[in-house]
Amino acid sequence: MTFCGLLPLLLLFSISSTPKTTANLEGDALFSLRRALKDPGNVLQSWDPTLVNPCTWFHVTCDQHNRVTRLDLGNAKLTGRLVPELGRLDHLQYLELYRNNLVGPIPKQLGELKSLVSLDLYHNNLTGPIPPSLSRLTNLRFLRLNGNKLSGKIPRKLTKLRNLKSL
Ligand SMILES: *[C@@H]1O[C@H](CO)[C@@H](O)[C@H](O)[C@H]1NC(C)=O
Repeated sequence: MTFCGLLPLLLLFSISSTPKTTANLEGDALFSLRRALKDPGNVLQSWDPTLVNPCTWFHVTCDQHNRVTRLDLGNAKLTGRLVPELGRLDHLQYLELYRNNLVGPIPKQLGELKSLVSLDLYHNNLTGPIPPSLSRLTNLRFLRLNGNKLSGKIPRKLTKLRNLKSL
């Protein structure tokens, strides 16, 4: 094959290997959460996965680069489980889920939320141990896990987080 014959083929290949729509991983992660929850108060009604990003969804806040920084779902009558996908929200600073009826374990993947400043899971029905991975949250200043049915000890490493103000 001559070079001229090869060129259209190369072009075709480079076009077809470019994704048509840019997937939004953070929107996908949040939508996984929505699917795992029962929402009798319809507070997640605006969470439409066909939008370009989740930044216009109610209870979701983004920074200027459209990265999710806050999830404010305290007192929202939500039941169901937390999902491991939440760990993908790289820029999340506030995860506020207090006073719902969430059940099941705290996903260890929450330890991947390296920007997290506040984790408030107060007053739910979460069970299982406090994941030791939470000790990797070096920016954490506010942590409230009481009012659940968690078992086991508070991981010792967690008490060594330097910025932590409340436990
Ligand atoms: C936890 O579950 C119990 C039993 O199902 C229920 O009575 C209680 O209201 C729940 N707590 C919260 C905070 O939703």
